[in-house]
Amino acid sequence: MSVAIIFGTRPQIIKSAPIIHEALKSNLELKIIHTGQHYDYELSQVFIEEFNLPEPTVNLGVGSGSHAYQTGEIMLRLEKHLLRDKPSLVLVPGDTNSALAGALTSVKLGIPVAHIEAGARCYDMGMAEEINRRLIDHCSKLLFAPTLNCKKNLERESVIGEIHLTGDTMYDVFLKFKDKADRSDILERLELSNKEYGLLTLHRAENVDDPTRLKSILEGIGKANMEIIFPIHPRTANRLKEYNISLEHNKIRIIDPLGYIEMLKLLKHAKLVLTDSGGLQKEAFWSQTSCITLRDSTEWVETVEAGVNQIIGADSEKITKAIRAVEEKYESMKEKFTANPFGDGYAARRIVKAIESFANIK
Ligand code: UD1
Repeated sequence: MSVAIIFGTRPQIIKSAPIIHEALKSNLELKIIHTGQHYDYELSQVFIEEFNLPEPTVNLGVGSGSHAYQTGEIMLRLEKHLLRDKPSLVLVPGDTNSALAGALTSVKLGIPVAHIEAGARCYDMGMAEEINRRLIDHCSKLLFAPTLNCKKNLERESVIGEIHLTGDTMYDVFLKFKDKADRSDILERLELSNKEYGLLTLHRAENVDDPTRLKSILEGIGKANMEIIFPIHPRTANRLKEYNISLEHNKIRIIDPLGYIEMLKLLKHAKLVLTDSGGLQKEAFWSQTSCITLRDSTEWVETVEAGVNQIIGADSEKITKAIRAVEEKYESMKEKFTANPFGDGYAARRIVKAIESFANIK
């Protein structure tokens, strides 16, 4: 059976890596298609190298642009390849424009779609990712839910496809690389000490494309008592320039985007992480580091229910208060990282098995 996996962005490469490795061990014939949504070395190729993935068979080279441009252009470019290769199934991970375009193009050609990370919901249709994941789930034949909560969301929405509770492939990756991360020398290189700094990531359009919201977030974080390390996404770097925002006189230290292994190491040794990323909220949980989420909602409610992730939004005073709360309650927080609702590290194996049985039935 021939299967195509389509990705285009940093988090999608991470989510796909264990599936690609499992698929290569199976009888499936795998094609990897990169949409080119991310093209900087630090947002794409570094992960292909770190995870030792085969080079994608094709790169559609779509690059940056509006949602309509990215989605439409990927569809047009992808259609030609799918018509030529005629895969029996297309796999799309996550909720990016690349994932939506991959799912729509395939389903419209009559090729069944399998969605990795199905059922995640933050119930905020103001977020591009929420729109994307809802649409993908409703046109997928196989839905691989990372958590029980995601499975329940899909059941409530009466999706047409088959739901499989598999666990989270990001957790598979985390387990595989955590020892390697321990050996990274990034703390020494950045001259940081264990649990004496915070880590920040910020790139969501609703935060960084709005100058008032962006300034408010940075003002709140800038009042932290500890140094905050900020591996900056190019989108955010561009906005800081555009809005003339300088971080020179506060506690935030900007560094270049990091690869997966260095990021894991920084995350494990940080006192807290501030982020608007979805994946990092989960990685913080697995690293036993408290998280402050700079959004008004989250799809990873499991981390909030565990009491280790605060959904704070963009209000500067609330952010400063949340940082102080983590500092004060730091010792008692440690006990809260107990159950792991994200599976057992074998999500990719279950996904590949489910694809093989789908192929046998077909
Ligand atoms: C996309 C995803 C988001 C995911 C994120 C991970 C959508 C709607 N959003 O957001 O869900 O969390 O990837 O990073 O698909 N840029 C570069 N180099 C690159 C890529 C982007 O400089 O390699 C800059 C460009 O200025 C570009 C901007 O970043 O316009 C935004 O890139 P885009 O792909 O539109 O979205 P992300 O913010 O990366």
